[in-house]
Amino acid sequence: MSLERIQGLRESLHDHNFRYYVLDETIISDFEFDKLLLELKELENIFPEVFDPNSPTQKVGGQVIKSFNTCLHKRPMLSLSNSYNKDDITSFIHRSEMAAGQKIDWSVELKYDGVAISLCYEDRKLVRAVTRGDGLNGDDVSVNVRTIKNIPLTLPSSAPNELEVRGEVYFTFSSFEKLNEQRLLSGQNKFANPRNAASGSLKLQDSAEVSRRNLSALMYSVYSEHLDFKTHSDSLSCIQSWGFPLPNKETGWAKLCYSIDDILDYLALWDKQRHDLPFGIDGAVIKINDIGLQEKLGFSAKSPRWAIAYKFDSEMVLTILRDVKYQIGRTGAITPVAILDPIWISGTVVRRASIHNADQISKLDLHIGDSVYIEKGGEIIPKIISVDFSKRQSDAIQIKFISHCPDCAELLTRRAGDAQHYCQNTERCKTQIKGRLEHFIHRKAMNIDGIGSETIDQLVELGLVFKPSQLYNLQVVGWQSLKKFKDKSIQNVIAGMKESKSVSFERVLFSLGIRHVGATVAKKIARHFEDIDAIINSSEEELLEIETIGPMIAKSMHAYFSDESALIEIQKLKDLGLNFYQKKEDSESNNLSGKTFVVSGVFDFYTRDGIKTAIEQNGGKILSSVSPKTDYLITGKGVGPSKLKKAIIFEIELLTENEFRIWIGSTH
Ligand code: IVH
Repeated sequence: MSLERIQGLRESLHDHNFRYYVLDETIISDFEFDKLLLELKELENIFPEVFDPNSPTQKVGGQVIKSFNTCLHKRPMLSLSNSYNKDDITSFIHRSEMAAGQKIDWSVELKYDGVAISLCYEDRKLVRAVTRGDGLNGDDVSVNVRTIKNIPLTLPSSAPNELEVRGEVYFTFSSFEKLNEQRLLSGQNKFANPRNAASGSLKLQDSAEVSRRNLSALMYSVYSEHLDFKTHSDSLSCIQSWGFPLPNKETGWAKLCYSIDDILDYLALWDKQRHDLPFGIDGAVIKINDIGLQEKLGFSAKSPRWAIAYKFDSEMVLTILRDVKYQIGRTGAITPVAILDPIWISGTVVRRASIHNADQISKLDLHIGDSVYIEKGGEIIPKIISVDFSKRQSDAIQIKFISHCPDCAELLTRRAGDAQHYCQNTERCKTQIKGRLEHFIHRKAMNIDGIGSETIDQLVELGLVFKPSQLYNLQVVGWQSLKKFKDKSIQNVIAGMKESKSVSFERVLFSLGIRHVGATVAKKIARHFEDIDAIINSSEEELLEIETIGPMIAKSMHAYFSDESALIEIQKLKDLGLNFYQKKEDSESNNLSGKTFVVSGVFDFYTRDGIKTAIEQNGGKILSSVSPKTDYLITGKGVGPSKLKKAIIFEIELLTENEFRIWIGSTH
């Protein structure tokens, strides 16, 4: 009887949610709804064996998530190519109509500024909600997503067995403000903007807190093996009728457009009206409405050819420049940073802006107290665009770039042809030492668990550690002298250091922190030379022979390995057992054995030679032209039309760069 009651309550509460969120009607009061929900919750407590992750009670959360599992997306989550002006849009439309050989109907939508989410339903139940991650793998955040009020947990019987719906999870401005007020009251830092807050919330371990924060969602794409829609707009209307959150017609948030002028009018309208929306957008998305045509145009490696994002001009605002502070990077590079009167730009409070270098300070002719225009270009780091000279006080003090390091007082130098000033006191400037150690332990470098920047700070200030090798050699008494370091933390850190010894050579090379050698460059160099001694003994010319390694990197590598103290440190790390050697075979597979490939177009991750090397290293064979003997055509941006035509005629399988990377297991 009670089990039947549980079932009945679940169905009835799902129905009330559907009425409320989809039909915009209510047939019971909030009080009655809460009473039913409470009854269900109590029954579920008595009968835990009938737990259902999609029960309406899950909307209030309660489950605690220890860690988020990584999931492979069934279909890669690609991004959109961006455009910033009307000419780009016009030429995109002309290009698409040429490729399609006909006039095109367009579905134009707002570009919601939140966090992308993929919702997978099986047998009409939500089974997985996964973040975009790197596009191929994302984090399973199902428990938290189930608390989002307007995401349906179950679907009506007209929905197919298998369904994937994608969209954006976001904060309305009002929920965001409320959240920040509460954080301030409880002494926590405010979130910088609604997007950060949404992404942070999806990763919370306490789902009840996620529920309280009141996230929202809007969906924009549908995939299913069992659905055959003619148009994108039909697909969205259909999922809207199944309970998914989509803009209602009367909002005008989405529109069908039949000409360039229609589209440009929509863009102009929303550029003006975006500030009246209850949530943030960062542009609009223009999509071919006909799904047959979408399929005909297909995808480039990173984005569909049938859609484009239009980014609105970033806002420019006026604020006061109070001071300039100087940041010291791990390589000694000095970057001036403007300290501003706090100001809102596109949903973010801006307090600092980058000024790049000394030339920029003189070019802008900055004075303390100046009224300066700030822009958040592409929503990244805000920068000062110009000064309103009419507002300058007559006695304003001009800002002069510093001559000495603000940490160690070393005289700064600037090399010919370099816009940056440097502190050359590499061995003793504490900020640089801390920066290098923080880089070394970083998740993307040696990934040493148990140490954070506070620990590094203490280790350097106490004079215990200046070089990575000293971290490994630090005895228990050394760790014990740190604040907040008890037995458990010491065990963790020692285990973390031990674990880090299995980190691959390419990451060890990256963690050395050589100027201009990022993770990708380190990977290229490590894979090319396979051994640190070969790198140390290489000439600049040999380095330059590696594709994508330019003179700046080659020079920097050469300078680094000419330094006696760097070589001594590498020897110490070698003796400690870090990986300074890695044979190619260790990282490649034989997955493509016996398969033939033709490669055409330009790729994002690989150069043309790079993708060919990857095919060969994984046992595949490269052919120069498409013939019935070809197994696969790997299609990049601007794939040759005759190759594509032949591939279609010979029924040769097409692979995108991403699909190829998944196949060979090279997804990072
Ligand atoms: S369609 C192949 N429509 O923008 C990608 N995306 O760079 C198709 N976004 O990651 C995406 N609003 O998270 C689409 N109306 C909308 C969107 C939208 C926001 C996000 C999405 C995606 C990013 C594209």
